[in-house]
Order: sequence, then C-alpha cells, then structure tokens
Amino acid sequence: EKIEKGGFEHFMLKEIFEQPSVMHDVMRGRVRLEEGRVCLGGIEDYLDRLKQAKRIVICACGTSWHAGLIGEYLIEEFARIPVEVDYASEFRYRNPIVGKDDVVIVISQSGETADTLAALRTAKEKGALVMGICNVVGSTIARETLCGMYTHAGPEVGVASTKAFTAQVIMLYMLAMALSKGRTISHDEIILNLTELADLPAKADRILNLDGQIRDIAERFKDAKNFLYLGRGYNFPVALEGALKLKEISYIHAEGYPAAEMKHGPIALIDEDMPVIFIATRDSTYAKILSNIEEVRSRKGRVIAIASEGDKEVARLAEHVIYIPQASGPITPLLTVIPLQLLAYHIATLRGCNVDRPRNLAKSVTVE
Ligand code: G6P
Repeated sequence: EKIEKGGFEHFMLKEIFEQPSVMHDVMRGRVRLEEGRVCLGGIEDYLDRLKQAKRIVICACGTSWHAGLIGEYLIEEFARIPVEVDYASEFRYRNPIVGKDDVVIVISQSGETADTLAALRTAKEKGALVMGICNVVGSTIARETLCGMYTHAGPEVGVASTKAFTAQVIMLYMLAMALSKGRTISHDEIILNLTELADLPAKADRILNLDGQIRDIAERFKDAKNFLYLGRGYNFPVALEGALKLKEISYIHAEGYPAAEMKHGPIALIDEDMPVIFIATRDSTYAKILSNIEEVRSRKGRVIAIASEGDKEVARLAEHVIYIPQASGPITPLLTVIPLQLLAYHIATLRGCNVDRPRNLAKSVTVE
C-alpha cells in the first residue's frame, strides 16, 4: 500500500497531486489544437444527433452531480442547448419527461452507482439517447450506454472524489466544444478555449505549490463547527463541492450556496465563529462577490477567499487569500476546486480523521 501511495501519506493527497498529469491524460489525443477541434472517439458517430438534441439532461450522484452542474453552465454557454441536471435518485422515481429528442448524460466515476444506473435504464426505456461519462473502463454504466467517453483519470482509491471530478469537468468542457463547433462559436473562439484548456495542467501545478499555505489556514480553522462556501456562476458548483469534501472527510458541517442566495438564509448564521469561504475569482460576477464579502465582514464572519493572482482588493477584505492563476470564467472551476480539496484534506488530517476511508461512506454506492 505504501508503494501504491507513491510517497504520499494518503491516497487522497496522492490523487489531488496527480491532477496536473490526469489533466494531460484526459486531453491526450482529444484536444487537437492545430486543427481547432476536439476528437471524442466514443461519441463521434453520434455527434450530429447530439448536436440536434432539443434538451440535454444530466443525471449523477455526489461529486459527479457537481461536475454535471458545471457541465450545464458550459454546454448552455457555448453550445446553446438547454441542459437540466438531476440527481439520478430523483430522476428515476419521478416519471421524468424524456423522449427521443432528448439526450441523457450519466456521469459516474465508478460506473456502478445504483441510482445512476437506474436513471440510465429509465432514460433508455423512454427512448432518449443515453451517453455516459465514466472513469472505470468496462463498468456497468459504460457498457449500458449507447455512446460515451472515459475520463482516463486512473484508479481513484480515496472515497472522496478529487481527480475524477476534474477529469469529468474537462470531459464536459471538451463535449461543449464538440457540440459548439460549426454551430454556435467561431473557429477562433474554439482555438482560444482549447489553448486555455491546454494551459490548465501548468496552472494546476502552481496551485499545488500552495499546499503549505493551505495547511496553515487549515490549522487555524480546524476546530470550527461549521463552514459556509459561497460562489457564483461557474464557481457555485465548486462551492457545493468544497463543502461536500469538507463534510465527507472531516465531519464538520458545511454548506455550499450560490453567494447571492446568502441573504435568503445563511446570512442569519454568520458571526465571529463562522468561517466563510468565498470563491472570488475575476470574472463576470466579481464585483457582486466583493459586495457579498463585505456583507459577511460587517457581520464579523471570518473570510477565506480564493482569488485571482494580483487581486489586491480582495486582500483588503478577506482574512486569508489563496491566489490562483488567471483564467477565464469557464476554466476557473478546474482551478478553484484544488485549494478546496487541499483545505478539506488538511483540516481532516489535523483532526485525526481517516481521510481515505471516512466513516459511513462508500467509494461506490451500489445499493439503494
Ligand atoms: C459516493 C462516493 C462519492 C461519489 C458518489 C458518486 O458517494 O463517496 O465520492 O461522488 O458516490 O459516485 P460515482 O462513482 O457514480 O461517480
């Protein structure tokens, strides 16, 4: 086991640190920068039908569901196809309205999650074109979908999903590009987006260098009873994912929220004991996020911000700032999630928790 962990103390940490190389693996042979296109072998024969979808429904559970939410933003922004994201467990039991004009995408790291598999079977019965995004090759979900793509993230051992999540989001980004090509965005725009994607592993690598700083922050906040994670736009699902990571492995209660919804509930919880993590990168909602931070500060909440390099304004407002390299909005979730994975990891280990096998959780939930 020691050898398998490759010198890291836990599988989870190893998998977090593998992300730059996983990003390369996910894109290898698929991102064709010189040609200005992505090549997705597993769906190539169905691409025209996928482009004609009236609607895309994404079904998944847990972290894969969070990736699906980012997929919704990506596909709607670039490909302009309406997307809905459903919990697989809800979809399967509510007699969903789906038919032959719809595409249902199921996302699952393991490819064995019972609810996701049942959602896929329901969608198939109703005549939808069913596509899968799985990590485990030959898994049940991968076999039962009509077409799909493998994430190529390698085996994920830690129960809390990390590298599989970033791989899923990259797949969805590439899918959005494939669905947009020749329809909704120009060739130049595709080149620009793919260039940013190709730059991602180097940026992720730089974030991993912040591990020491993040551990120091974890040290200060490890005894907190609650955490609030806030983000907007592409980083709203990252707020959900950051909170999920923390509760899964440290057993601290954490909630993720779209930052603007704060005033409809969570703001009532804010006092000097409440750490609030803001994802405040420089994108279209930046100014709004700053005013959300001010609201928290004025109620004495303790703000930790994930911000874009060079941003001095945020440093004025937040108690701690974790700087990530500049990137455009649709790319940022792939970067902002990394410090949140590390923060959850360090808080959990400092509390003496078994991060690779947290209590009551399973890597793959194959029963209802
Ligand atoms: C479990 C795991 C999570 C995972 C979820 C969905 O809850 O602990 O890490 O996100 O199942 O799993 P899947 O394999 O379908 O992505």
